[in-house]
Amino acid sequence: MSTGTRTRTQVAIVGSGPAGLLLGQLLHQAGIDAIIVERHSAEYVLGRIRAGVLEQGTVEVLDRLGVSSRLHAEGSIHEGVEIGFRGRRHRIPLKTLVGKAVTVYGQTEITRDLMEARAACGATAVYEAVDVELHDWAGISPKISYRRHGVAYEIACDFIAGCDGYHGVSRRSIPPPALNIFERVYPFGWLGVLADVPPPWQELIYANSERGFALASLRSPTRVRCYVQCSLDDRVDDWSDARFWDEFRRRIGEEIADRVIAAPSIEKSIAPLRSFVVEPLRYGRLFLAGDAAHIVPPTGAKGLNLAVSDVFYLHEALRDFYRERSERPLEEYSERCLRRIWKAERFSWWMTRQLHRFPGDAFAARMQETELEYLFESIAAQTSMAENYVGLPFGPSTDSLRTHAAA
Ligand code: FAD
Ligand code: DHB
Repeated sequence: MSTGTRTRTQVAIVGSGPAGLLLGQLLHQAGIDAIIVERHSAEYVLGRIRAGVLEQGTVEVLDRLGVSSRLHAEGSIHEGVEIGFRGRRHRIPLKTLVGKAVTVYGQTEITRDLMEARAACGATAVYEAVDVELHDWAGISPKISYRRHGVAYEIACDFIAGCDGYHGVSRRSIPPPALNIFERVYPFGWLGVLADVPPPWQELIYANSERGFALASLRSPTRVRCYVQCSLDDRVDDWSDARFWDEFRRRIGEEIADRVIAAPSIEKSIAPLRSFVVEPLRYGRLFLAGDAAHIVPPTGAKGLNLAVSDVFYLHEALRDFYRERSERPLEEYSERCLRRIWKAERFSWWMTRQLHRFPGDAFAARMQETELEYLFESIAAQTSMAENYVGLPFGPSTDSLRTHAAA
């Protein structure tokens, strides 16, 4: 229904990260028309190296969409995770404790799978859209506008999904007095390196060392992804590959350090750590989802997984609206998301506090030692950690909520 540079769709999605792309596919499966508008090129989006750990609930959503065949072929299932402390490693046996595991499969690969699925079903995604603006979302006829290669475009829609990440335009379009913001900024960042070398570890190792945190992760049997806690003043150029591997070896524990190969990095980046939640997630006909609404420090591996549960709830609410003209799930969207978001915020904050160096706080250092000792001694504490790490349940779907209400 395109008239010149004006188009109409049911849902305009801002951002083609995991939240936007996944919402696009979920809506497509529900027969709802959507257009995705993204600021960067598809290649740029695919070049961002981020998450690696998927909860079982996330994998189940991708299964339902039929976009998980490569994930099952190439991803690896991890039934445990290790915590390094004072030179020793302690395994948390996830599967034994809570009956679930996590899957290691890069965010880049999920993004590629979702982009391919979108192209295969002929749905529209506009890349390199600049000056994206949101209009009239407080009323019933919202619009978004943007420019592409010098031409102005407008999309009229029923709803806008703000899936444009922490630095996006959607949250910034809402008048500040309407936003309730909860935030904690941590006094350090993570320096991440990707390198083509077989990992000398089978499961992820989160290490608390005197010199700061380190994480040993992987992407495949021939590719590692490793992180070290760094100063907020550090720049990527301050860290040669040799310096990175030297620091990583000193933190990860002797037994692994001896087997680490200082391979050349194929990607290196620094991410600051923050906890952030905005309430509510709904403003009229604008719905925020994923990093646009919340940030977790990466220590708990929750950011991508939360983006998935948000858009899962949003697609159910939009589906019910179009099927039955029922507004209720849309009204409940924010509360439903926030219940899960705050629990993931709590867990990520807890993991971050237990594993990083917080200089100048002797009491906090003793509490950290005590927490970790307790964790290694107590099956109850390990079960709690495992339950959160593999992901808390999504909760009942709107279908089953309706069945309950009718009973
Ligand atoms: P994004 O991925 O940020 O996507 C938003 C999109 O919107 C981008 O493509 C952006 O270009 C676009 N955009 C922005 N502004 C505009 C605009 N004005 N107009 C149009 N488009 C716009 N999470 C996990 O679950 N597990 C992990 O193991 C994990 N590890 C991580 C490690 C690191 C180092 C980092 C930095 C993050 C990690 N995360 C992890 C978090 C995870 O990567 C994010 O939570 C996830 O990317 C959120 O997806 P999103 O789609 O909401 O936002
Ligand atoms: C990875 C990132 C994380 O934040 C994490 O907690 C575990 C693994 C990764 O990039 O592999």
